[in-house]
Amino acid sequence: MSERGAAGPGPATIQVSRIMRPDDANIAGNVHGGTVLKMIEEAGAIISTRHCNSGQGEPCVAALARVERTDFLSPMCIGEVANVSAEITYTSKHSVEVQVNVMSENILTGAKKVTNKATLWYVPLSLKNVNKVVEVPPIQYMHKEQEDEGRKRYEEQKLDRLETKQRNGDVILPVINPEPHTVGYSQSSLIHLVGPSDCTLLGFVHGGVTMKLMDEVAGIVAARHCKTNIVTASVDAINFHEKIKKGSVITISGRMTFTSNKSMEIEVFVDADPFVDEPQERYRAVSAFFTYVSLSKEGKPLPVPQLLTESEEEKRRFEEGKGRYLQTKAKRQAQMMQQAQMMQQAAQH
Ligand code: COA
Repeated sequence: MSERGAAGPGPATIQVSRIMRPDDANIAGNVHGGTVLKMIEEAGAIISTRHCNSGQGEPCVAALARVERTDFLSPMCIGEVANVSAEITYTSKHSVEVQVNVMSENILTGAKKVTNKATLWYVPLSLKNVNKVVEVPPIQYMHKEQEDEGRKRYEEQKLDRLETKQRNGDVILPVINPEPHTVGYSQSSLIHLVGPSDCTLLGFVHGGVTMKLMDEVAGIVAARHCKTNIVTASVDAINFHEKIKKGSVITISGRMTFTSNKSMEIEVFVDADPFVDEPQERYRAVSAFFTYVSLSKEGKPLPVPQLLTESEEEKRRFEEGKGRYLQTKAKRQAQMMQQAQMMQQAAQH
């Protein structure tokens, strides 16, 4: 039996593999964080759409609703194989939790490393009516604790996402002649026309496509700020509250909010302008915080130039970023201590 957390109607695990090619690389020669995020989302979309169509309900496509905070644990190199495995770990009435692991494999030596672990939530939408959320066939759990833990995660994310629904953020305006290392100096935008290859069967953008574009903009901001090779270290939880329709023009904008000694936090917004078929007002589709690290030619983290904040707003955002940084650092340290204790206990037995 596989190590899956649940069994029931529909497939509980899948694995997708792909060799990493030069067009997946960043300038340091490693695979782009955005490419990894896109692969994670593709695996999640396959398993959740399959599962949601395995019952007696109406045909549907699973839309990405949320991605939990994701850490990039180690780099993946060009020529390696990305093995992406996805497993359904919880279902609520209308949503599916998918856990995805990404492992890089050197097919010459057989060496394998875990590069990412991500948790995604999908919501099935009817093929006949894109605005209709359909019911998810429930999975059966091997142990009651798995269901209880899944429900706890479901309740926690429900609370957390209410906050981001209210956080809309402002518009990023161009700055004339900005001083180096100010927010205006590195802020960047990318404009993209949403075409069919970006979209699901229902004609709205795949979450993975959006995350890849967001990572691209965040990378440009980080590189402009520190003028070195940069890598994605983590992405905070992202909620996809609004669909983006085919034919929309999207503007993806990023600005630096905080710098620690060796990391940079970048806030990214996606604004959609749908003007084909039924013209609609421009709206904020999604926003998220990315953390980047600057690397030396040998791949070692470098100190980053400190962000110079000018306006009251920039100072406030810097303090908020510092709060998030300290909170995640404390959590990471607590996890490391817990792991060390567990290893010590195992060694004593
Ligand atoms: N994260 C996780 N689950 C979410 C969610 C989020 N951000 N937003 C809604 N849900 C879940 C709810 O918990 C509910 O499940 P439950 O009844 O089992 O608790 C289910 O979605 C339906 O919620 P409801 O309130 O009826 O729907 P909604 O009006 O909030 O719409 C979406 C939910 C996901 C359909 C809607 O927000 C949407 O279309 N988002 C964009 C999806 C998309 O286009 N993704 C790619 C973006 S590029």
